[in-house]
Amino acid sequence: MASLGFPSRLLLSYVLVFASVNVSSCPAPKVPLALYYETLCPACSIFIINQLSSVWKQELITIVDLKLVPYGNAEIQGNDTIVCQHGPDECLLNTVEACAIDVWPDVNKHFNFIYCVEQLVKEGKYKKWQSCFKKTRVDPKPIVECYNTKHGKEIELYYANITGSLQPPHEYVPWVTVNDQPLYLDYANFKSYVCKAYNGTSLPKACKSLPHQVISVEKAKPTYEVSYAEKPTKMQASYSSSPTKMGRKCTAGTS
Ligand SMILES: *[C@@H]1O[C@H](CO)[C@@H](O)[C@H](O)[C@H]1NC(C)=O
Ligand SMILES: *[C@@H]1O[C@H](CO)[C@@H](O)[C@H](O)[C@H]1NC(C)=O
Ligand SMILES: *[C@@H]1O[C@H](CO)[C@@H](O)[C@H](O)[C@H]1NC(C)=O
Repeated sequence: MASLGFPSRLLLSYVLVFASVNVSSCPAPKVPLALYYETLCPACSIFIINQLSSVWKQELITIVDLKLVPYGNAEIQGNDTIVCQHGPDECLLNTVEACAIDVWPDVNKHFNFIYCVEQLVKEGKYKKWQSCFKKTRVDPKPIVECYNTKHGKEIELYYANITGSLQPPHEYVPWVTVNDQPLYLDYANFKSYVCKAYNGTSLPKACKSLPHQVISVEKAKPTYEVSYAEKPTKMQASYSSSPTKMGRKCTAGTS
């Protein structure tokens, strides 16, 4: 580069001043919000439709880094064979949703498609999931390709790994974490945790309208029956005492 003349040097110093101002007013990092789920678990579809979708209301999404991990209580048996809690249809839809996330990394785009599929799950019409391509106006081709090649399975094996690496381990689905901390059965209240975890000074409207009371996870009761992983846990034991209110439990192997 040639030596800088006076005007360029002036310009450069402006750039430097501007850059340093920018650094000091750098926005706080977004709050990581993750949903570990499986596509056919009723409480998961209800959470996605009734609660998680509201992350787009009142600008909450501007402070959230939302990650969906469709794998849940599936298991790997033998030679990389994935067995899903609610059967082969669930494995198919887990992979389809994983492919959607892979093909459209923008959460605004893949959530639209996943919302559509989970709406059908909630209505008991998930076999019509392919109608979501047309409904959300997306090209089915890359998804079909991802599913038909080994790529979809590779992503699911990756999701198996990150789900299996959770600390503390997940006990049921939906399993929601904010800033990598699980919300246990208080997951429906995720907004309060997100707002509390955010370090920025300017909060979105969604945070201002909240009572800001984060209750302890021990006191939390699920609104809907969650799907437990195969091994019974302490929590399962304590909550199974009110079966009528809780509804039918999903354990591995049933569909
Ligand atoms: C907010 O700041 C605290 C303390 O530095 C840090 O531990 C936490 O991870 C930050 N939260 C986010 C969402 O980055
Ligand atoms: C396991 O899968 C790999 C890759 O598909 C294959 O090469 C291998 O023969 C399989 N092993 C068994 C024991 O089935
Ligand atoms: C995830 O993958 C890493 C790297 O291959 C491996 O060390 C780890 O044991 C895996 N964890 C699980 C739970 O599968």
